Amino acid sequence: MKGLILAAGRGTRLRPLTHTRPKPVIRVAGRPILHYAVENLLEAGVKEIGVVVSPETEKDIREALAGYRVSYVLQEEPQGLAHAVAVARDFLGQSPFVLYLGDNLFQKGIGRFLEAFGEGVSAVIALVRVKNPSQFGVAVLQGDRIVRLVEKPKDPPSDLAVAGVYVFTPEVLEVIQDLKPSARGEYEITDAIQGLVDRGKRVVGVEVEGWWKDTGRPEDLLDANRLLLEELSPRVEGHVEGSQLTGRVVVERGAKVVGSTVIGPAFIGEGALVEGAYIGPFTSLGPGARVVRSEVEYSILEDHAALVDVALRLQESILGVGAAVRSRNGLPRAHRLILGDLSQVELA
Ligand code: DAU
Repeated sequence: MKGLILAAGRGTRLRPLTHTRPKPVIRVAGRPILHYAVENLLEAGVKEIGVVVSPETEKDIREALAGYRVSYVLQEEPQGLAHAVAVARDFLGQSPFVLYLGDNLFQKGIGRFLEAFGEGVSAVIALVRVKNPSQFGVAVLQGDRIVRLVEKPKDPPSDLAVAGVYVFTPEVLEVIQDLKPSARGEYEITDAIQGLVDRGKRVVGVEVEGWWKDTGRPEDLLDANRLLLEELSPRVEGHVEGSQLTGRVVVERGAKVVGSTVIGPAFIGEGALVEGAYIGPFTSLGPGARVVRSEVEYSILEDHAALVDVALRLQESILGVGAAVRSRNGLPRAHRLILGDLSQVELA
């Protein structure tokens, strides 16, 4: 069994965060989203992993996965999920494989989808009941068998959305070969799966256990961050002085927390600085981030982002890599900020 993680293309719905970097490298609970995909595959016993990247995402993805042994496959243009699978043909060979969308998060891993992939099964599709099925691929089930699949239908035939994990035999590559682009101009994996169904193959739907997140929008990232932080084991490896740490708090190596209050669950990344500050629940600080004489909760500060002398508490905010918010004087009014990498905001 091989694993194929898709991480090409830019997440347009997450702009400005994804203007400079691809979505799967954004950190939630201190780690790039992609790490959770690789870890889930490894935990399920899938050791041979390929990652599909595009020319724009390759550098960032390679950096984020530097500690892992994976292969890279280049998809020149993001022409759809089925196209991404087709370009990975050489990597996949004749092996069955798990297709894993690099921006999806699964609380309980992917073991149950692999377990359902038995004799005579051509594909297993992870499904989840949602309130807004029109935004996803949608499946119609008969028993455990998928009989119909449509991509982002206006009129959804069920509330069962396709979550971003699929297990396939190499048969799907043959179906992909004959695919035509969809109305939105992409080679859709949903159409390939429908192709398997039309050929009388057994395609099984398995509901996701625990929570699942497609990190398409900023509020999804913040929610994923919250859910992952809730499972954190507290650990203090950095320097803590004259501060109060309550609940599940991680302070990584080289981080400094001085004269501050931190209420968990919270994650203070490597080399981060928290000084005269309040860090409230569900907050993650990336490596080298700084919160100085400021208050923040339910937020993500990415690598080297900074919040300095901001008197009003920041909530539900995401500061991209190197983004900075500073206040010189007066009463700042900063409630909710989604800042792309290297943004500079001065509240005067
Ligand atoms: O998240 C679940 C949904 O993912 C499913 O319900 C849909 O059926 C499925 O089509 C997919 O829809 P999205 O619109 O969310 O897919 P998106 O374009 O965001 O791509 C998902 C991941 O795959 C993302 O990390 C980028 C990567 N990708 C995407 C395309 C179009 C590639 O690597 N190559 C591509 O050509």
